[in-house]
Formats: sequence, C-alpha cells, structure tokens
Amino acid sequence: MIELRAFAPADAVSVASWIDSLEALITWSGNTGFTWPFDARQLSAFHASDPSRRCHVAVGPDGTPVGHVLLRTEPSGRSVRLGMVLVSPAVRGRGYGEAMVEAALGEAFASPAIQRVNLGVYSHNAGAMRLYERLGFRTESVDPKATCVAGAWWASTTMSLPRDAWRSHAT
Ligand SMILES: CC(C)(COP(=O)(O)OP(=O)(O)OC[C@H]1O[C@@H](n2cnc3c(N)ncnc32)[C@H](O)[C@@H]1OP(=O)(O)O)[C@@H](O)C(=O)NCCC(=O)NCCS
Repeated sequence: MIELRAFAPADAVSVASWIDSLEALITWSGNTGFTWPFDARQLSAFHASDPSRRCHVAVGPDGTPVGHVLLRTEPSGRSVRLGMVLVSPAVRGRGYGEAMVEAALGEAFASPAIQRVNLGVYSHNAGAMRLYERLGFRTESVDPKATCVAGAWWASTTMSLPRDAWRSHAT
C-alpha cells in the first residue's frame, strides 16, 4: 500500500503544504521549535541539522508522498523515538497512517538492540491515540502542561510499545 523512503529536500514543499494552521503545526511537531507560518525551508533546515534523525516519507503506489515520519534512536541505544507522524489531509482515513507507522516500527525493531519504541501525542488527539493503540502502544505517563498554545496548556501522553508486544501484535 505504501513504502517508506528517505526524506529528500524536494519533499519539503509537499509536506509543509499539509500543515494549515498553528494548531496543526504543534499537533504534528510538538516543541520542535517551528514557527507559524510554516514553510518548506524550516523543514529542510530541521532535517539537515541532525543526521541522527531518520526522516522518511511514505509514498503511495504512484510514488506520490502521502506521509511523513521520523525515527531517532534514544541515547540508551535500546529504544527509538517515533515522531512527526503526518498524513496528507487529502488521503486521511484510508489506512495510510496505520501502514506508515507499521512500516516505521518494522524499521525500528529491525535492529535487535531496540527493545522499545516510544512516542508523545497530545492527549486530545484521540484519532492518533486510537491508531497507536491499534498497533499495540500503551500509555506510560501524562504531562498535563506539555505545551502552551494560545494561552491554554496542552497535555501530552507518552506511549510505548515494547518489542514483545510488537511481536505479538504482528503475529
Ligand atoms: C493521525 C494521522 C497520522 C492518521 O492518519 P490516517 O491515514 O488518517 O490513519 P488511518 O487511515 O490509518 O486511520 C484513521 C481512521 O481511518 C480508519 N480507516 C482506515 N482505513 C479505512 C478505510 N479503508 N475505510 C474507512 N476507514 C478507514 C481507521 O480505522 C481510523 O478510524 P478511527 O479514527 O475511528 O480510529 C492523521 O490523521 C494526521 O496526519 N493527523 C495530523 C497530524 C497528527 O495528529 N499526527 C500525530 C502526532 S502524534
């Protein structure tokens, strides 16, 4: 259905065009430091600034980018942080998000050292949380004051998928 390939600078314009508001930007990128209005230059500079981030786009059968996801091995070397999960608004609700995260998990756990994949999701982002729960992620903790957006605190939920749970989900 989709394939992951490495993010290329030419993808930045497509991916940036999927973000249509400050709220959408923060929902996607958290406290990454992007500013609104968002543009392709910010995304290219972000990806170029740290090669330890493995940035991918998901492409559909015709090669068109439909999603974006990032993997970063955490300092312990035993876990991977999954982040910046985004599907083009034009194609949401067709299973691309689930397929993309599933492919990213396959890549993360391909390294035998990796015992766990972690992620953060704003607690009101019910659709994203349902997606992660379908793939076996469970809540680890909640930070009630993760990010202040237009004067209101957004809570953030840390979710985690241990290797064993990923295996049993996959079988
Ligand atoms: C969260 C996000 C990545 C999900 O992507 P998506 O491609 O819509 O995800 P899926 O299609 O796999 O699942 C979405 C829903 O469509 C349903 N679905 C999947 N395939 C379907 C199909 N063929 N027909 C009908 N419904 C379908 C899923 O069951 C799911 O239903 P639910 O919301 O009731 O749980 C996307 O909404 C997004 O980019 N949001 C903005 C950024 C964001 O919130 N990122 C997460 C940050 S942590």
